[in-house]
Amino acid sequence: MNPLASASIVVAVSGGIAAYKAADLVSSLTQAGARVEVILTRGAREFIRPLTFQALTHRPVHEDLFEPWTEASLGHVSLARDTALLIVAPASANTIARLALGMADDLLGAVALATGAPILVAPAMEHHMFHHPATRGHLTTLRGWGVTVIGPTSGRLASGETGDGRLAGVPEIIGAARQVLGRGGPLAGRRIVVTAGGTREPLDPVRYLTNGSSGLMGYAIARAAIDVGATVSLISTPVVLPAVVGAEMVHVGTALEMATAVDEQTARADVLVMAAAVADFRPATAAAHKVKKQGGTATMTLDLVLNPDILAGLDRPGLIKVGFAAETDDLVANARAKLDAKGLAMIVANDARDAIGSPDNEVVLLTPGAEPEYVPRMDKDDLAAILIARVGTLLAGNRP
Ligand SMILES: Cc1cc2nc3c(=O)[nH]c(=O)nc-3n(C[C@H](O)[C@H](O)[C@H](O)COP(=O)(O)O)c2cc1C
Repeated sequence: MNPLASASIVVAVSGGIAAYKAADLVSSLTQAGARVEVILTRGAREFIRPLTFQALTHRPVHEDLFEPWTEASLGHVSLARDTALLIVAPASANTIARLALGMADDLLGAVALATGAPILVAPAMEHHMFHHPATRGHLTTLRGWGVTVIGPTSGRLASGETGDGRLAGVPEIIGAARQVLGRGGPLAGRRIVVTAGGTREPLDPVRYLTNGSSGLMGYAIARAAIDVGATVSLISTPVVLPAVVGAEMVHVGTALEMATAVDEQTARADVLVMAAAVADFRPATAAAHKVKKQGGTATMTLDLVLNPDILAGLDRPGLIKVGFAAETDDLVANARAKLDAKGLAMIVANDARDAIGSPDNEVVLLTPGAEPEYVPRMDKDDLAAILIARVGTLLAGNRP
């Protein structure tokens, strides 16, 4: 379950050029189901108007510690008490300094001191301001208190110069929010390794054999595991998806590279979920130079050799292995055979024609000795949450 859905979140916007990006952040959080209260600092009100946030959240915007309408019910205390997460984005150098000094003469300062909720700070400023020892020192202080600092990233700044100081992207801030909210969830302390994408088996320096796997399923599983507190390694082939915030990303190309990465990453893991589409065969040799057309020949023959079966070959006592079976015929029978042959705790069977590259999926879950469980077609994010809930049950020592 996406922890943003129905979470109460305070977004505090401070005064910087990136204040306009906070509207996108607030909009995304609201669309994800969060109840968002917005605080605008004095500086922020110079850059963006409250009406924008009021329209996005359908709630009045909080501006002033001494506002009579909120302080009638001790507004700053209830904002601090009722929030699950305080996000400061963008965080100006001035606001970072004020937070680190515990200043409480404005609404944000008072809420930050009064709340027991986790705090996420996303700095955005000109690069000399960011690298100044004062700012660095204040951020170190905040981190020391358990505040999560996200970004800034490097790139072109409003000043026209290039350097560190760009506000982290909205997906990165949202990913960090999910991770912080998921901390302490049912899989806290558990280590899960997930594989994703189709392997690439080179023919020559510029060509490879692959398949249509998008990586969507594996990435969704990694996110769902982080949502419930797990520590996640995501072993991925090149895909066109953004990195999963909070996961350790391990990039691989071939099935052999994936086998090595799985071996390394599972050394201390509780669970391996193999959602990647691993090539059964690879070219016997990868040519060192680009293969040329041969004059007069209309066909070409490739010699292929078998790749190792990563799941079957991995013998780690105590590791819960979850596999995927993408089949076109006899789905349940073929998947059941793989479940038994590879010593899996669960296999997710799906029709390869519908599943690969699609944003949604319909699957059958098989576990040893149990009846198949049919899961209807749904978005891969929703399916991932169900799969991770089943993994939780397996970890608890029960069958799903
Ligand atoms: C045009 C302009 C752009 C600014 N951009 C930034 C910025 O990106 N980051 C920052 O830390 N301060 C920036 N400042 C300075 C802050 O607005 C200033 O320190 C202000 O007091 C911050 O107030 P606040 O922290 O209460 O929001 C900018 C100022 C101006 C006039």
